[in-house]
Amino acid sequence: MRAFLRTVSISTTVFLVSLPSAQAQTGNVAAGERLFKKCLICHAESVDEARRGPSLVGIVGRKAGVADGYPYSEAMRAAGAAGLVWDEDELAAFIKSPQAKVKGSWMSFSGVSRPKDISDVIAYLKQLAR
Ligand code: HEC
Repeated sequence: MRAFLRTVSISTTVFLVSLPSAQAQTGNVAAGERLFKKCLICHAESVDEARRGPSLVGIVGRKAGVADGYPYSEAMRAAGAAGLVWDEDELAAFIKSPQAKVKGSWMSFSGVSRPKDISDVIAYLKQLAR
């Protein structure tokens, strides 16, 4: 019984740890584009346009808080200075709960929160390269 429990807890851990990258690989670009409409209220798809938030063109793999021409919050600039880079796992955590990831960020929107939806949005963001 104890051995059985140990096996169960190990496989649960492996499952939780491997989930984010597994999702990232299966993200659906078309579904992500539809979901991104929610982000468009505050984020532009063109490089030079800032709305309430910065442009997200080229965001995947970029350091936090460095889009040209956007006056980030203290919190986001500090996160970037401390080494936060928007890889897929960091983006997933931020989209799910911006305040939990970067406390004090100006972004409080967490309207895309299902794991599948988050990985779809990230798949779309990857297409938004410069
Ligand atoms: C209500 C407005 C609003 C909505 C909707 C919104 N955001 Fe944001 N977002 C912001 C603001 C404002 C910032 C700048 C945060 C700061 O400086 O603290 C930001 C910052 C970000 C950043 C960090 C950018 C950088 O250059 O470091 C990412 C990534 C991001 N948002 C992704 C998203 C995604 C994906 C969505 C849709 C699921 C979304 N946001 C929806 C307002 C919004």
